[in-house]
Amino acid sequence: MDASDHFPSPDALCSFWMPFTPNRAFKSGRHKLLVEADGMYYRSHDGREILDSTAGLWCSNAGHNRPKITAAIQKQAAVLDFAPTFNIAHPLAFEFTHKLSHILPYDLKKVFLTNSGSEAADTALKIAVAYHRMRGNGAKTRLIGRERAYHGTGFGGISVGGIVKNRMHFGTLLTGVDHLPHTHLPQNVFSKGEPEHGADLADALERLVTLHDASTIAAVIVEPVAGSTGVLIPPKGYLKRLRDICDKHDILLIFDEVITGFGRLGTPFAADYFSVRPDLVCMAKGITNATVPMGAVGVSNRIYDTFMQASETPIELFHGYTYSGHPLACAAGIATLETYEEEGLFARAAEISPYWQEAVHSLRDAKHVIDIRNLGLIAGIELTPRDGAPTARALEVFDRCFEAGLLIRVTGDIIAMSPPLIIEKAHIDRIVETLRRVLDQTG
Ligand SMILES: Cc1ncc(COP(=O)(O)O)c(C=O)c1O
Repeated sequence: MDASDHFPSPDALCSFWMPFTPNRAFKSGRHKLLVEADGMYYRSHDGREILDSTAGLWCSNAGHNRPKITAAIQKQAAVLDFAPTFNIAHPLAFEFTHKLSHILPYDLKKVFLTNSGSEAADTALKIAVAYHRMRGNGAKTRLIGRERAYHGTGFGGISVGGIVKNRMHFGTLLTGVDHLPHTHLPQNVFSKGEPEHGADLADALERLVTLHDASTIAAVIVEPVAGSTGVLIPPKGYLKRLRDICDKHDILLIFDEVITGFGRLGTPFAADYFSVRPDLVCMAKGITNATVPMGAVGVSNRIYDTFMQASETPIELFHGYTYSGHPLACAAGIATLETYEEEGLFARAAEISPYWQEAVHSLRDAKHVIDIRNLGLIAGIELTPRDGAPTARALEVFDRCFEAGLLIRVTGDIIAMSPPLIIEKAHIDRIVETLRRVLDQTG
């Protein structure tokens, strides 16, 4: 098969409205197309191996084309292609959530299934508001997000999110939302792991309580490590402090672990890594190794029991999706959890993280680099923006890396990397060498 076999016709290029993409530039330029994937590598339409330093989009945690997962999906498609989960169900939905509950942190042992991280975020926010109402606190409806946060693209997620471009085009969003400050401080530049300064930024929640009164606040939602705005690692002690303030005021704490779940920090969840107990946890991506779309919300027993005990209607939560618990996603999820377990991938991520840390920080003196931050198998490398052309330099680095056989992700002028947990030292060396060379070539 030659490269042209993979190329969409000009007509076909018209139809797909690509997400978070400059469509006009993509469709009129040189297209980057991925046509195969295996292990640590993609293959591009022109037959080149592309080393994947991003696990797709923070999601293929076990690497690509894992035999057990592929086989489970293929088998399931032929046995039970679809079954609803409203009022009736199929065994795999129970089997999968039960298996998942074994690795969920603390007492978060109940699982609501969605199809994406965005739906998981919106579901968690809705559960939080409905929970307080169930307990007779119907005024506790306010939701607190954070600047520079990403919680997907639903109206709930963008309302508590903190990325201006994702919000400004879409009207008034949810009312009754406020935001904590982000945790990215200049004095933490080039921190290895958790930065020293900024735990006190959590105290901004006390100020919001003073402003709005705790009787109106339902929940705080944060990404334990913010990924989409360029890898923001929480300062030491920050998340614990947030937990304490939430406890003091009967505010639920939601961890959006869409990218930190499933081993990214070397533990099943970031809640385990930081030893901080959330009340709800959002998941997606690595839940099925990204093979079949699925998201989920892990819910504490206490919250679930409240609904079961207090609901005055037979249906305890008026919420759900046609594909909540889709059989193919459940089959993929079970095989994914087994793959993580059998190959000890979370522990593997923890073992290789120190090597990853030192390797990425070795780029400290590379051209254009003004900050490097990392945790687990995550790294962010921030570049000086070009005068009057923010993001242009990073986009050029992205293009050049792709040409050089390396897939990175860029967000603003920040390179964000989150490789599959099967990464080996030789891959890390190649990532760092390629980046140094490309940065050097980039003006
Ligand atoms: C923290 C976080 N929450 C939610 C989402 C949205 O997930 P999805 O794109 O599956 O809707 C993402 C996606 O990157 C994310 O990083």
